[in-house]
Amino acid sequence: MIGQSPVLAGPDAAGGTLLEARGLTKHFPVGGTRFGGHGVVHAVDDISLSLPAGRITAIVGESGSGKSTLAKLLARLIRPTSGTLALDGRAIRARARAGRGYARRVQLVLQDPFASLNPIHDVRYHLVRPLKLHGIPGSAERGQHRSGALDQAVADLLGRVSLTPPDVFAAKYPHELSGGQRQRVAIARALAVEPAILLADEPVSMLDVSIRLGVLNLLGDLREREGLAIVYVTHDIASARYLADTIAVMYAGRIVETGPAAVVTDQPAHPYTQLLLSAAPDPDRGQPVTLRGRGAPPNLVTPPPGCRFHPRCPHAMLICSQAVPPMAHTGAGHASACWLHDAGLSAAQRAPLTVAAVRSTRSAPPSGAAAPQPPPPHPDDAAEPGKEA
Ligand SMILES: Nc1ncnc2c1ncn2[C@@H]1O[C@H](COP(=O)(O)OP(=O)(O)OP(=O)(O)O)[C@@H](O)[C@H]1O
Ligand code: SF4
Ligand SMILES: [Mg+2]
Repeated sequence: MIGQSPVLAGPDAAGGTLLEARGLTKHFPVGGTRFGGHGVVHAVDDISLSLPAGRITAIVGESGSGKSTLAKLLARLIRPTSGTLALDGRAIRARARAGRGYARRVQLVLQDPFASLNPIHDVRYHLVRPLKLHGIPGSAERGQHRSGALDQAVADLLGRVSLTPPDVFAAKYPHELSGGQRQRVAIARALAVEPAILLADEPVSMLDVSIRLGVLNLLGDLREREGLAIVYVTHDIASARYLADTIAVMYAGRIVETGPAAVVTDQPAHPYTQLLLSAAPDPDRGQPVTLRGRGAPPNLVTPPPGCRFHPRCPHAMLICSQAVPPMAHTGAGHASACWLHDAGLSAAQRAPLTVAAVRSTRSAPPSGAAAPQPPPPHPDDAAEPGKEA
């Protein structure tokens, strides 16, 4: 289940919910402006999601939409401004420092395998460290001596990420590995503590196109074989469709659409998802999705009021600049935060937003402002709500 609060019903979790987040928000304080004041970057706002065992959830969005911040909040590497987390059904104090117990269950794999491995140590060293810190899985049952158990555990880990023969790879240094092999070592290191949840932040974006598929398939295998819950963070909606069970689309710190991967990509309900798809042509999709009005993501220190996408949206209506759209169910497990789904809007609320009105909302205070008068309809904006331009 994913969305802005309140949480919506999503696809049933086969293995039950492992991690649940409610209303997660992260505002980063930023230094003085040229007017001398201070502000905050609204990096993540009011995100709720639940991660079931054995499912891959893709978080998709443009650069700066808050994907990595959300992943770090879930890994508890940073503290939320507000919101709660529950792991294995137990509420945890999200603002408290994460202990070893949490890190055992939730592991983060970063984008850059060069930066995440120490060049002066071999692969064995990288894998032995977490094993020593968190304990060697299964060694007590096998009654092995510590060094034998460590060797066995390192070999098992390398086998699980298909780096074989394990003794050869264990002795290699990072510079002796390809980018894909390095990322496999990073994944093996995360697996060393036998986590239930793997957060993978753009795990293939720095790899050659030719080896991306192998790493994506490895993540898919881990889901199948080991029942891991995986969060796959990416700006590439096509790879999200390939790998994930569920896609959550983020825009400017908020989730704007979520649902089964095939549904979100075949029948995108939110204009921003349509924009993303139009920028990533997929030969498997029958109809190409086209969208007018591109522009750039907003400044998150002063995000646009109402729907944060409204300055770029070709369907924008007056209401879009005034109020945050609630998540609306648009199908089984499919939801979208867009006013187009609200059939109860008045004619004034549905009045198309002109370019001039959009400009004026950029500098308007987000709350407490007098409601602007409905602008006259613009001939270019005559598309009916719910219809694509
Ligand atoms: N420590 C920080 N201090 C201030 N602002 C931050 C900090 N970390 C992230 N931000 C800001 O928060 C917003 C979201 O950043 P984030 O890195 O989460 O985006 P992203 O979707 O992961 O982008 P990318 O695809 O480029 O990795 C951006 O505006 C970013 O500049
Ligand atoms: S129609 Fe309005 S609410 Fe929907 S995406 Fe466009 S601006 Fe946002
Ligand atoms: Mg990022």
